[in-house]
Amino acid sequence: MIEDLGDDLILRTGTKSDVKAIKEHVQAVHGKEGVPMINRLFNLHPNFPPSDNFLVEDIKTGKIVAYFNLMLNTGVMNGHRFPVGGMEIVGTLEEYRNRGLIRKLNEAFERRVEEYNLPMIMIAGIPYYYRKLGYEYAVQMGGSLTFPLELIPPQKKGEKEPIAIEEVTQATFPAYLKAREQLNAYLDFYRHLSKEDFLYLSTGRFGNDSVYKFHLIKANQKVVGIFLLNIGWGALEVNELWVENLNHLLSILRFLKKIAKRRQLPLRIYYPARPAIFQALESFSRSKFGRPYAWYVKIPSIKRFLEAITPVIEQRLAKSEFKGLTESIRFSWYQEGIELVFKKGNLEAIKEIPRNEVKDMNVAVPFPVIYQLLLGYRSIDELHQIFPDAGGSPTKSPIVRVIFPKIRAYWTPEF
Ligand SMILES: CC(C)(COP(=O)(O)OP(=O)(O)OC[C@H]1O[C@@H](n2cnc3c(N)ncnc32)[C@H](O)[C@@H]1OP(=O)(O)O)[C@@H](O)C(=O)NCCC(=O)NCCS
Repeated sequence: MIEDLGDDLILRTGTKSDVKAIKEHVQAVHGKEGVPMINRLFNLHPNFPPSDNFLVEDIKTGKIVAYFNLMLNTGVMNGHRFPVGGMEIVGTLEEYRNRGLIRKLNEAFERRVEEYNLPMIMIAGIPYYYRKLGYEYAVQMGGSLTFPLELIPPQKKGEKEPIAIEEVTQATFPAYLKAREQLNAYLDFYRHLSKEDFLYLSTGRFGNDSVYKFHLIKANQKVVGIFLLNIGWGALEVNELWVENLNHLLSILRFLKKIAKRRQLPLRIYYPARPAIFQALESFSRSKFGRPYAWYVKIPSIKRFLEAITPVIEQRLAKSEFKGLTESIRFSWYQEGIELVFKKGNLEAIKEIPRNEVKDMNVAVPFPVIYQLLLGYRSIDELHQIFPDAGGSPTKSPIVRVIFPKIRAYWTPEF
């Protein structure tokens, strides 16, 4: 695929021979930290065809002037998996900015998203910009606590730490994944990891902010916890912290303190999904987790997304007072709508409602804010509080609260 954009610029998808030029581009736009990630993507990612790179080349110089790629991941919502696309490493060389190059690349990207039938796309992006491409904030991101190192007490003289902490290898990664299930039990939506993801995520020198190091926490040879380390945003960052026994937290903090001190970095701990860990960390640190940012989301087809989460919707209904429901609900986002037809608790049909038939709707949420409802980022009642044009009818709103509740969502690792 090649598109002539004029002014010696062509838009095309990537090939293996573009790696060097992509690395030069990434270094020029994002700095040298981004470069190892390109190597890992092309060499170690389990599912990254070169044609999922989208670029604009200046044919006079052979330089890549604008670039991003599509990364394929898997999401899990209440036990059900579906593919999630990521738009990653977005950038344009300074002298080529504000000419619509990313907007143009996005058209090619969205065609690929359709070919892959992806139910949703996520971006960890700079504030506001991706709204211009139709995205809406709809999944929690970040929310961290910078732990004052001086509040982490040393181990008492003569006492031994009750746990051992070891870095995960390819051989022990399955044990990490097994323990990670206990962390994920606190979440309704999270990123699925499989053993094929290990090399891509973790190959490289620690200290480079685009590599992750997985850790196992063991007591008496048994895995009792996990965490994920990386260096980013000028800090030692801890993600996916889960531990069975809260009494082990101080030992873990002492381990992290040592690394943070050695590297002269602040220690930043990201949202631990388990509420008890969250609370204990706030008490130990005498501080609070900060206000989270959020992932940008695009749902290219609401019907396709609802088909992907149909088992989730049916499960929510089955666990509620509306078990066995036979009823239809008409949703609108004003331009268009969708009718969910339930029969005996099964979602029998998801019917698209074209613009000229958008009337007698039971629920309305403006577009693309409706993504927040579909992803459980905000409830219908919260949306009603914020947006005068969002809300539901008195009789259907109770059902909407059940099928689209506010959920606990967190997505790591980020890339
Ligand atoms: C952000 C960035 C990728 C935009 O690239 P670009 O090629 O200039 O983008 P486009 O020209 O296609 O912009 C599309 C639209 O967004 C607007 N826009 C461009 N940069 C913007 C910004 N930083 N904030 C808000 N809007 C912006 C453009 O004016 C254009 O609007 P319009 O179509 O209504 O006229 C580029 O500035 C960049 O590489 N920045 C440094 C790296 C970075 O921050 N990357 C994003 C990481 S998440």
